[in-house]
Amino acid sequence: MRSKKIITERNLELSKQIDKRRIPEHIAIIMDGNGRWATKKGLPRSFGHNKGVSVLKEIIKAAKNLGCRVLTVYAFSTENWTRPAKEVDYLINLFGKVLRKEIDEIHKESIKIKFIGDLSPFPETLKLVLKSSESITQNNQNFILNVCVNYGGRQEIVKVAKEIALKSFTGEIKASEVNEELFNSELLTKGVKDPELLIRTSGEKRISNFLLWQLAYSEIYITDVLWPDFNEVEFLKAIIDYQSRNRRFGGIESLPNESFEDSYCS
Ligand code: FPP
Repeated sequence: MRSKKIITERNLELSKQIDKRRIPEHIAIIMDGNGRWATKKGLPRSFGHNKGVSVLKEIIKAAKNLGCRVLTVYAFSTENWTRPAKEVDYLINLFGKVLRKEIDEIHKESIKIKFIGDLSPFPETLKLVLKSSESITQNNQNFILNVCVNYGGRQEIVKVAKEIALKSFTGEIKASEVNEELFNSELLTKGVKDPELLIRTSGEKRISNFLLWQLAYSEIYITDVLWPDFNEVEFLKAIIDYQSRNRRFGGIESLPNESFEDSYCS
């Protein structure tokens, strides 16, 4: 009870520091550290994944309340198949279980859910749940939740290259028409602007094959906090840190009353 009160006070304190006009529209998250969190507590890794789900719910709510429009989370990478079969099965079952339980609430909150990645290797029962969750929520307007499952950034880029090569082969497009806009239109995230912010928990300083094309200019926020310990307070800290950055997109910050010659040739 007391710790909940302290968290709420901290939330209020941090909320005051946030500029509501500069909330990132799209935030990507690598939810890392579930296994380590559980192991540190002497629990099976599955406990970490379960706690991870409740944290995700809290962060969706916080992001939506702040005015963020899109959250893209990395739930299962193409590399995660190399984990012990028991853990892979656990995660696959968890996705189905969570969706069956939460889909009404997701729909009520007007959240459009989308699964990004190659769904083909998943069991038919899970594919049905994923597809029906997408179709139930397809017209929802408030918020988009992209869940990356069996997703790999390189695989996505190869897929786009193949689509473009095919269109060029059939004469639908000319090689000279291939540009970033065309590439964007073939991405699994098509129609959604690139994330302004990437959050990675558990301290690893890698992108791990996540949204390689889309993260080109994203600000990266890495915290040592393990995903199951992440919460609204930590999320607000990430937003405050993001708002302290100077996003130049490869350009330079223009200084008042200073010309190119003044700054470089004197
Ligand atoms: C990374 O921790 C986490 C995952 C591989 C799974 C994340 C999945 C969820 C939180 C469930 C999401 C569910 C739905 C329906 C969207 P890790 O296992 O790599 O931890 P470690 O690095 O400590 O081993």
